[in-house]
Amino acid sequence: MAYCSAFTTAMSMAYGSSSFTTSTTSLVPYLPSNSTLSMMTTFSHLPFRFNLRRSVRIATASLSAVNSPSTSFSDSQKSLLLEVKDLTAVIAETKQEILKGVNLVVYEGEVHAIMGKNGSGKSTFAKVLVGHPDYEVTGGSIVFKGSDLLEMEPEERSLAGLFMSFQSPVEIPGVSNIDFLNMAYNARRRKLGLAELGPIEFYAYIFPKLDLVNMKTDFLNRNVNEGFSGGERKRNEILQLAVLGAEMAILDEIDSGLDVDALRDVAKAVNGLLTPNNSVLMITHYLRLLEFIKPSRIHVMEDGKIVKTGDISIAKLLEEEGYKAISTS
Ligand SMILES: Nc1ncnc2c1ncn2[C@@H]1O[C@H](COP(=O)(O)OP(=O)(O)O)[C@@H](O)[C@H]1O
Ligand SMILES: [Mg+2]
Repeated sequence: MAYCSAFTTAMSMAYGSSSFTTSTTSLVPYLPSNSTLSMMTTFSHLPFRFNLRRSVRIATASLSAVNSPSTSFSDSQKSLLLEVKDLTAVIAETKQEILKGVNLVVYEGEVHAIMGKNGSGKSTFAKVLVGHPDYEVTGGSIVFKGSDLLEMEPEERSLAGLFMSFQSPVEIPGVSNIDFLNMAYNARRRKLGLAELGPIEFYAYIFPKLDLVNMKTDFLNRNVNEGFSGGERKRNEILQLAVLGAEMAILDEIDSGLDVDALRDVAKAVNGLLTPNNSVLMITHYLRLLEFIKPSRIHVMEDGKIVKTGDISIAKLLEEEGYKAISTS
């Protein structure tokens, strides 16, 4: 699934096209990665210098400096970042209910993990948080940093500090990584009233971040995700997060397809981005990721609801005995 509000932001800002923002924000980013034809049609009227024959991926994020790791604070020091109450959502097209009353509270500086069987609604929940138009919220509330997230467009959510890394990052043929990131970053800076960074300044900004994800500089000149291995794509996602920053990074199966070295690199990079003020919500099936990125809380989703919350012992139990050990059905 392709979804790219950093991209949307970058494009709309770069071309000064308010119609892009208003009329296509909710459409363009969400095209499935195989819908080449519809992507071409959708983009055909836009003044792109890029070749957007295929899909566009999304990075939703805001600017916030991220440097030192830290995940545990006493409750008195923490402030609420995200509060989801009784959230229900249906698939927009079929009205099939997928989320059936999700409750979740995340404080600044916390790392939360969501586990659960395939098809339990984890990715749907993540996508509903960033405003994916495949889904309609039918009840409940989402408050992010004191604002009603459901009232915000996907791009506004991104500017408010949400970043989502998708389960399957897609390619953007003809667009180099560095151009993509520079443009997305500058769009944010403009929104914040900051001066844009030119290519040389941006290179100086991004260069140290390559180290963080253990990426070579030639990745910057390659087209976004084109020909990248699974591990390289995931590193690239984290590089985007490092460049754009986010108060809440939602990482959907960031560990899928990674060998243990790549997993360690990605986890190290994520840990390097944690501060007392931001948080991570990661979806995973595997204990091994949680051993690298230590969660404050683990939740188990089943049939569109969080049915259990606890500490790392839940993941250990799941690893040993499978979901039947905690299933409510
Ligand atoms: N856009 C969609 N169209 C049709 N079915 C969907 C869509 N999104 C999710 N679903 C269905 O909703 C259920 C939950 O999916 P998902 O959230 O991807 O689960 P998980 O990430 O936990 O594996 C699945 O049965 C899936 O097929
Ligand atoms: Mg999923």
